[in-house]
Amino acid sequence: MAQLDGKVAVVTGGTRGIGWSIARALVREGASVFVCGRDPRRVEAAVEELRSNGGRADGLAADVRRHEDCRRLIAAAAERFGGLDILVNNAGVGVFKPVDQISVEEWDEVIGTNLSGVFYCSREAIPWMRRRGGGYIFNISSLAAINPMPGGAAYNASKFGLNGFTEAMMQDVRYDGIRVSTIMPGSVDTDFAAEPGAKKRETWKLTGDDIAKAVVDLYKYPKSSLASRIELRPSQPPRKK
Ligand SMILES: NC(=O)c1ccc[n+]([C@@H]2O[C@H](COP(=O)([O-])OP(=O)(O)OC[C@H]3O[C@@H](n4cnc5c(N)ncnc54)[C@H](OP(=O)(O)O)[C@@H]3O)[C@@H](O)[C@H]2O)c1
Repeated sequence: MAQLDGKVAVVTGGTRGIGWSIARALVREGASVFVCGRDPRRVEAAVEELRSNGGRADGLAADVRRHEDCRRLIAAAAERFGGLDILVNNAGVGVFKPVDQISVEEWDEVIGTNLSGVFYCSREAIPWMRRRGGGYIFNISSLAAINPMPGGAAYNASKFGLNGFTEAMMQDVRYDGIRVSTIMPGSVDTDFAAEPGAKKRETWKLTGDDIAKAVVDLYKYPKSSLASRIELRPSQPPRKK
C-alpha cells in the first residue's frame, strides 16, 4: 500500500500553478485531495480533472483571506473524506511595487493571502490532525522570504513573516505528531503575479512538478526526522550579466 493511500489532503490554491501540481501528485499517490481557489469554475475544472483517472478529489470556492471560508474549507474536506492528514498552504499572490505605490488594498491582499490565510487554515486544521494522532503541514514560502528585493516590500514582508510563523508553529505542534515544513522555491514557471496564460513559458525555471515532488518526498521521510526548511532553486538560471 502506498504511504499516501487513505490520507486526506487539503491544497489551497490547488486549481492552478504549483498547487495544481501538488494536488495532482497527491492524488496519484493515492490520497484524497480537497482543493480551493477563489474562482468556482476553476475549482470545478480542477476537481473534474483530478477525478478523471479514478482519483478521489473534491473542492470548493474559498478565499483564504477570510477566516470563515478557511473554517468551511477545512471542515468540508474533513467531513467529505473522514478526517484530515495533510494541509498544503499554497495559495499566494504577488504585487511588486515600491512602497509609496502599493495601495492599501494591495498590501492587505498580499498579507491577507500569504500570511493570515496560512494562519486561518492551519488553526482550523490542527484540531482535525490531532484527532488522527498527527499530520503534516506544508507551507509554500519563497526564496523571497530571505532575499529582500526592490519592489518586493509587500511580498517580502508576507514571506519573511510566513517563515517565522511556520517555524514557530512547527514547535507548537511537533509533540502532537504534526510535522511542519517550509518549502522555499526560487522562480517557478507558473502564471504567478500575472493573468492566467499571459506569461511566456521559461524552461530554465522550476516546474510545479518539482515542488510537488518535494512535498511527496518529505511526506515519505521517516517520521523521526523533519526537514523543516527546504530551499529549492533552478539549477541553471540565466547568468547575471
Ligand atoms: N511562481 C513562482 O515563481 C513562485 C516562487 C516561489 C514561491 N511561490 C509561491 O507558490 C505559491 C503558488 O504560486 P503559483 O506560482 O502557483 O501561483 P498561481 O499560478 O498564480 O496560482 C495561485 C493559486 O492560488 C489561488 N489563490 C490566489 N489567491 C487566493 C485566495 N485569496 N484564496 C484562495 N485561493 C487563492 C489561485 O486561484 P484563484 O485565482 O482562483 O483564487 C491559484 O489556484 C504562492 O504562495 C507563491 O507565493 C511561487
